[in-house]
Amino acid sequence: MTQVKAALLGATGAVGQRYINMLGKHPTIKLEILMGGESAGKKYGEAVHWLFPEAIPEEYAKAMVKTADPESAKGCDIVFSALPTEVARDIEEKFARAGFTVVSEASAHRMDEDVPLMIPEVNAEHLKLLEKQGKKRGWKGKIATTPNCTVTGLAMVLKPLIDAHGAKKAIVTTMQALSGAGYPGVPSLAIADNVIPYIKNEEEKVAKEARKILGTLSDGTIKPHDIPMGVTCNRVAVMDGHTETLYAEFGEEVEPQKIVKTLAGFRSEPQKLKLPTAPEWPIVVRSENDRPQPRLDRMAGSVPGMAVTVGRVRSGIDKKAIQLTLLSHNTIRGAAGTAILTAELMDREGYTG
Ligand SMILES: NC(=O)c1ccc[n+]([C@@H]2O[C@H](COP(=O)([O-])OP(=O)(O)OC[C@H]3O[C@@H](n4cnc5c(N)ncnc54)[C@H](OP(=O)(O)O)[C@@H]3O)[C@@H](O)[C@H]2O)c1
Repeated sequence: MTQVKAALLGATGAVGQRYINMLGKHPTIKLEILMGGESAGKKYGEAVHWLFPEAIPEEYAKAMVKTADPESAKGCDIVFSALPTEVARDIEEKFARAGFTVVSEASAHRMDEDVPLMIPEVNAEHLKLLEKQGKKRGWKGKIATTPNCTVTGLAMVLKPLIDAHGAKKAIVTTMQALSGAGYPGVPSLAIADNVIPYIKNEEEKVAKEARKILGTLSDGTIKPHDIPMGVTCNRVAVMDGHTETLYAEFGEEVEPQKIVKTLAGFRSEPQKLKLPTAPEWPIVVRSENDRPQPRLDRMAGSVPGMAVTVGRVRSGIDKKAIQLTLLSHNTIRGAAGTAILTAELMDREGYTG
């Protein structure tokens, strides 16, 4: 792969920091430009409220945060966006019009019909949407998106359950970490000693985005998957790592052991292409009764934090149903990691620059 020069919108945020953490030693992507809102014009190390125990890499600590403007990213092949949704639509489109390839975490463009919503293990072929996007919009560049942090782990588990066993219905309950709400996020007095059984707009997003990602591409458009989904989202006092329980129904009887084998053996395009951020095995299945747990399993995978951990695989109310618990790191697999993996796939397939 060629050396890709990258810029980052929203560099000071919870997800932006994760990019800095992950791209510091990336073999092919070099993060060169940091952009922000209120922090523009300041040194990154002075502007950021750094959330990791390890120090900010020196070259970034000293870097000047630039304004979120295409001129700031001149010379870069790719622009990662970790902007809040409210400002993302306009700013990302400005970059796409100016000729940049944008990979965005924000929800602004996720459901646009000509914008791919990517999890490279699940829907690598959806990148083909980009072939028509520029012409239709009159952009020299393009926008690809990655899903809501809760969707990523879920869609990665549903994909093999649908393909290999014909899963027909999914009922999901989530226990979502605090970092999923950005910094400073949920007030401490609201969440300490508590569970909040509501996250605004989240349940609708989980079902809609999962169906688009699991959908099929035909004649240049995506037909969303029709799997019915019931979703309940909760915020819990965990720092990182979204836990979800999944109740899946099938058209015929399924053996829990066969489901375990299917999930543990799941591999896809990023593994075949040996992309640098692809975990060797995207789903890790644990056999212990008390796993997965956020503290123990959120960094699972040969690329830490990029594997989804599944446990407690067992039958449901009859043998046509399966229950399981899954866990994925929300700012790695659910955000920066999947966006970086998408950029690696785009680069390999000639969509960057
Ligand atoms: N947290 C997660 O687990 C997660 C997972 C998946 C997707 N996402 C999505 O990723 C995006 C970022 O989330 P986050 O949790 O990192 O948010 P965050 O902590 O609130 O950070 C927001 C970032 O955006 C910048 N920003 C705000 N307004 C701006 C403007 N007008 N122009 C330029 N930059 C501006 C801020 O820069 P300044 O500090 O300089 O103002 C900051 O760097 C959101 O769309 C979120 O929905 C988050």
